[in-house]
Amino acid sequence: MNTKYEEAIKKLEKYNQKHVINILETIEENKKENLINQILDLNFESIINLYEELSNKKEIKIDNIEPIKAIKKEQLDDKELNKYIKLGEDIIKSNKFALATMSGGQGTRLGFNGPKGTFKVNIEPKPKYLFEILADSLKEINKKYNVTIPWYIMTSEENNDSIEDFFNKNNYFDYDKSYVKFFKQGNLPLLSKEGKILIDENYNIKQAADGNGGIFSSMYKNGIIDDIKNRDIKWVFIGSIDNILLKVADPLLIGISESKGIQIATKSIPKNSPQEKVGAICKQNGSIKVIEYSEMPKEIAEARDENNELIYGESHIMCNLFSSEALQKLGKEKLPYHIAFKKYNYIDENGKFVVAENPNAYKFESFIFDSFTYFNDIAVLRGKREEDFAPIKNKEGVDSPSTAVELYNNYKKSIIN
Ligand code: UTP
Repeated sequence: MNTKYEEAIKKLEKYNQKHVINILETIEENKKENLINQILDLNFESIINLYEELSNKKEIKIDNIEPIKAIKKEQLDDKELNKYIKLGEDIIKSNKFALATMSGGQGTRLGFNGPKGTFKVNIEPKPKYLFEILADSLKEINKKYNVTIPWYIMTSEENNDSIEDFFNKNNYFDYDKSYVKFFKQGNLPLLSKEGKILIDENYNIKQAADGNGGIFSSMYKNGIIDDIKNRDIKWVFIGSIDNILLKVADPLLIGISESKGIQIATKSIPKNSPQEKVGAICKQNGSIKVIEYSEMPKEIAEARDENNELIYGESHIMCNLFSSEALQKLGKEKLPYHIAFKKYNYIDENGKFVVAENPNAYKFESFIFDSFTYFNDIAVLRGKREEDFAPIKNKEGVDSPSTAVELYNNYKKSIIN
C-alpha cells in the first residue's frame, strides 16, 4: 500500500491533481486503497490531452457543405418498392439481421431515477417500459418471419447491473434469453474547468459513459462483433432506447442498403423547423457528416429549396443500419470526441460534498454519426415523423413522455383503421 500510495502521489503531482492528495488524507483506509488503485489505473495523459485539445477549441467553422438527397418512399414506383422490401425481408428471414440498442446514456434531461429503458410510458392499450416496447416490436417481427432476431444491448458501467436485473425480473419480456446480449460501453473521467479530475461521494474518480459513438469499440472489445460474425449476420440496425416509434427491422431500409451495395444507411425525417434540436445529415468537404443544430449557422439552417423544403432538413434520428463489415472496420477506429460542459456534484479538496448549482465539468463523448465519415456513401431513407419518431428526452414539453405517447397512440390507431 505504501509504495502504491507513493506512486499515486507522484502521479497526482505530475499531472497537477494535488487536490486529490488532500482528499486522500481525509478518507478511511479501504476507500483510500480503492481510490489509489483508480489513480494508478487512470491514463491521465490521454484525458488531459483531450481536455487541452477540446476545451480550447475554437468555434467549428461550417463551410463547404452540401445537402444529401434522401430516398422518399412515395417516389419509388411499386416495382422498385416491392423489390427492396422483398430483399429486406429475405435478409430477415434468412437470419442475417440483428438489432442493437444504445441504452448507455444517463437520461439527464428526463430526470428519471434509473436507466431510461426501465421508464414506463402510458401508451394504449396498456402502459409499457421502453425496453418492453422494443421487445414486443421484435417479437412481432420474429413471429411474422419465423425467426429470432439477436438483440445486443449496450449499457454503461453505471446502469449495466440495473438493466440486467430488470430483464431478469421481467423474464426478458419472454424474449429468448440466448438471443439477448448485454455489453458495457466505456467510461471517461470528467474534468473541471481547470482540468482537475472530480471525486464522487463514494471516493471514486467521477466518470461518465463515453457517448453513443462508443458502441463500435465496445462491440469489438466485448466480443459482439465476433458474435455477429459467428451468427453470419449481414446487417445490424442500431437504434436508441428512447424512440417509442422505432421500427426495429425495416425491410425497406435493409433492402435499399443491400441493393445499393453500400455499408451504411440511415433513416431521416424532415426537420419540423430550422430550430428543431436535431442534427442535419449532409456532406462537408465531400464527407458524410451530421451537423449538430447548435453548430449550424442560422442562414444555412433556414435555407429552403424551390419546393419550400429546408435544404439542410434531413434529421438524424438515431436510426442507423450498418453492414457487419462496417462494424468490423469501425470497431478498431477511434471516433473523435466532443466536449460538453455539465453539472456534476463532487467532493472538494477539503472533503466536503458540493452540490453543483451550475455547469462545472467537462464531459467527453463520441457520437455514433461521426462513423459516417469513414464511408464514401450512405443511403438516406426519408421516413415520416408520425410513423418513425416519438422520442422521450425531456420531462415535460417537447419530446417528452406526453408528446411521445400521443404520437405512438395516433400511429397505432392509424394502422388499425
Ligand atoms: P442522448 O444523447 O439523447 O442522451 O442519447 P440520453 O442519455 O438519452 O439523455 P441526456 O442527454 O442525458 O438527457 C441518445 C441515445 O444514445 C444513448 C442513449 O441511451 C440514447 O439511446 N447513449 C447516449 C448511449 O448509449 N451512451 C451514451 O454515452 C450516450
